[in-house]
Amino acid sequence: ASTLKEAAAAKGIVFGTAAAQSHMGESAYVSTLNREFNQLTPENEMKWETTEPSRNSFNYGAADQLVGHAQSQGMAVRGHTLVWHSQLPDWVEGISSRTELLDVMRNHISNVAGHFRGDIDYWDVVNEAFQDGSGARRDTVFQRVIGDDYIEEAFRAARAADPGAELCYNDYNIDGRNAKSDAVYAMVQDFKRRGVPIDCVGLQAHLIVGSLPGDIQANIQRFADLGVNVYITELDIRMQTPPNSQKLAQQASDYRAVTSACVAVAACKGITVWGVTDKYSWVPDVFEGEGAALLFDDDYNKKPAYDATLEALGGD
Ligand code: G3I
Repeated sequence: ASTLKEAAAAKGIVFGTAAAQSHMGESAYVSTLNREFNQLTPENEMKWETTEPSRNSFNYGAADQLVGHAQSQGMAVRGHTLVWHSQLPDWVEGISSRTELLDVMRNHISNVAGHFRGDIDYWDVVNEAFQDGSGARRDTVFQRVIGDDYIEEAFRAARAADPGAELCYNDYNIDGRNAKSDAVYAMVQDFKRRGVPIDCVGLQAHLIVGSLPGDIQANIQRFADLGVNVYITELDIRMQTPPNSQKLAQQASDYRAVTSACVAVAACKGITVWGVTDKYSWVPDVFEGEGAALLFDDDYNKKPAYDATLEALGGD
């Protein structure tokens, strides 16, 4: 196999990317997307501020276009994301009654997941609900106003709205074992014991060149042992820019390590990189002086990390 998606398919997994509708007019973007990837995650188009900008008024235009494109190419779709504290409209932030916010959250989920019912392979139902470091819940309007049970209520609402989609909890800095991933592990274990409908965990894997956790495979395995699937959902491995051959070689070795860790665990069913090209990556906007985190450079050339990833998938 000479493309990521073909090599991944031969291993029984998907290889995807985040994609943005705003770039779909660019031919090199679309041709790279279509050639290499068999799974698509809308980068921003399904987030609450876009899908329900004002209360009970829903907008699916850009997301529908991306889903249509994915379907026309036979790509799986990851829905991202139903409940997240970021890119959340002010009108939601302002709610202070538990009953009202529960109602609003359930209504959002039933409308959005209901709209896409049958078209979504996996939903990131709840995103980034835990703090770094301690493993405590993140202080968000959902946590403050509803309480701990907002997460399980979100999963129940998502199951009711689209019984065919795999339902995932998704977070960053849970790629190796640490206090945060321990907290997510305990939550998933509790959900499985009590029958809360959760099917998968998404390890975002926003990583840094030369400093990967050494225990990614063991961490994937412990989640798998709970009876959930695992996905690498937002993989990128950033460096100080500009890149040079030494940094690109280290990045290649890091991509190989992450890919191999997923391939080694049967329950790890897919890898998604967080963007087609370095040109449009979120990284430089957020981390000054960092970037070059993806598999294709600004001109859509394959980077050393591409070859390493393809090899780790068994391709050549
Ligand atoms: O659409 C507006 C545009 O109209 C405006 O002119 C422009 C000016 O800044 O902003 C545009 O919105 C930006 C949006 O991306 C679309 O490009 C926002 O400012 C920008 O904040 C937003 O960033 C996104 C970020 O999530 C927001 O938190 C990134 O594209 C997206 O890659 C990133 O993705 C997140 C995942 O959803 C969750 N995990 C972490 C990951 C990286 O932060």
